[in-house]
Amino acid sequence: MRTPLIAGNWKMNGSTALIDAFGDAFAAAKLPDGVDVVVIPPFPYLEAARNAFANTPLQLGAQTLNPQHSGAHTGEVSGRMLKEFDVAYVLVGHSERRQLYRESDEEVFDRLIAALEVGMIPILCVGESLEERDAGNTMEVVLRQVGYVMARLEPVQRYQVVVAYEPVWAIGTGRTATPEQAQDVMAGIRSYQASFDKTLAEQLKLLYGGSMNANNAAELLAQPDIDGGLVGGASLKTDDFYAICQSAG
Ligand code: G3H
Repeated sequence: MRTPLIAGNWKMNGSTALIDAFGDAFAAAKLPDGVDVVVIPPFPYLEAARNAFANTPLQLGAQTLNPQHSGAHTGEVSGRMLKEFDVAYVLVGHSERRQLYRESDEEVFDRLIAALEVGMIPILCVGESLEERDAGNTMEVVLRQVGYVMARLEPVQRYQVVVAYEPVWAIGTGRTATPEQAQDVMAGIRSYQASFDKTLAEQLKLLYGGSMNANNAAELLAQPDIDGGLVGGASLKTDDFYAICQSAG
């Protein structure tokens, strides 16, 4: 049985006021039993979030981390630092990092390993561009991104990874993948894992991301291979994010 996970990626948005609003809203709210909920604010808000979320079920995530644990890397943040703020999850390989900051599969792997080394759960983001989908290459792209990382991990480490499938054309566009499109790719990822580890395939947590909102979440989350969501824009409003969490119950 895979525990549902809803993660709200604020990207480069938010404020201390929004952190407080989430703290207040989720202290009063009752989440469905057995649903994990993570808020992923920008780095400067982690300390405020840790305090504001203390009496809520919200867990903390970070948007990236450096592959190194310390050293001469001006402007970077390490996993060891994030652990000091009770950060439990960290995104690696988000398409915005792959595109805007040219992170390669190899760099994504290095960051993911750094997360595992400090005991954080990496959320490995994968997904195809519109051109890749139109060319019929969706599964090839997604399995390359997943496979590159999984093949280099020790078998036991593979169980620590969450995978988020986010079609790039659905991110921030309001154009959500249909539940069938999302399910097809999720099933493909799971059956790829099953080809070398059936137990891992059954346990691997798969999230959908890309214009998930309060209106479409229930239908997406009802798909058999979708175990949760990685939510961007709709995670910036307490009511919308709460409604998505309810859909996961
Ligand atoms: O990390 C979140 C995803 O990129 C989805 O963003 O919900 O704004 O499309 P979005």
